[in-house]
Amino acid sequence: MKKEIQPVASADNELKQKYTQINKLYIKTVKPIFKKSCFDCHGNTTNYPWYYKVLGVKQLIDSDIKESKKHLDFSKDFPFISHETPLKDLDAIGKSVNNNSMPPFRYLIMHGDKKLTKDEIKQVDKWIRESKELLK
Ligand code: HEC
Repeated sequence: MKKEIQPVASADNELKQKYTQINKLYIKTVKPIFKKSCFDCHGNTTNYPWYYKVLGVKQLIDSDIKESKKHLDFSKDFPFISHETPLKDLDAIGKSVNNNSMPPFRYLIMHGDKKLTKDEIKQVDKWIRESKELLK
């Protein structure tokens, strides 16, 4: 009996170790970028910007936060809180930063400094590549 369970347990352990490794890299290289550009909506340290007080904007941001947390929540580090697998999250993040769909345009109009720079996109990409390599 015990021997049958063993391989499953060790595969599980291996995956956990990989997640830990990915998370270490994330905290070092990607988290500061996400903190600046993504946490307003995808994290729990909601740092309301100045325009929040402008009429109508509060409602816009509130619904953004609700909506974005439904999809992907970065507040507990990697693996992120989401309905998808970590691998799919990595793909979705890679896509969103490379096609400039995140942070959303309507948000950048008011807060242009949150836009990712080319270097930041490169760094996120590198992390995603390395993580996917590990998870293969
Ligand atoms: C102003 C709020 C806001 C900011 C800032 C923001 N997002 Fe989002 N994000 C959303 C909302 C709202 C959704 C869900 C609806 C949509 O897809 O537009 C979303 C969806 C996503 C998705 C898609 C999840 C899925 O279901 O496929 C990804 C990936 C994502 N965001 C990544 C990021 C990353 C990475 C950053 C930072 C570089 C970021 N977001 C910054 C509001 C935001």
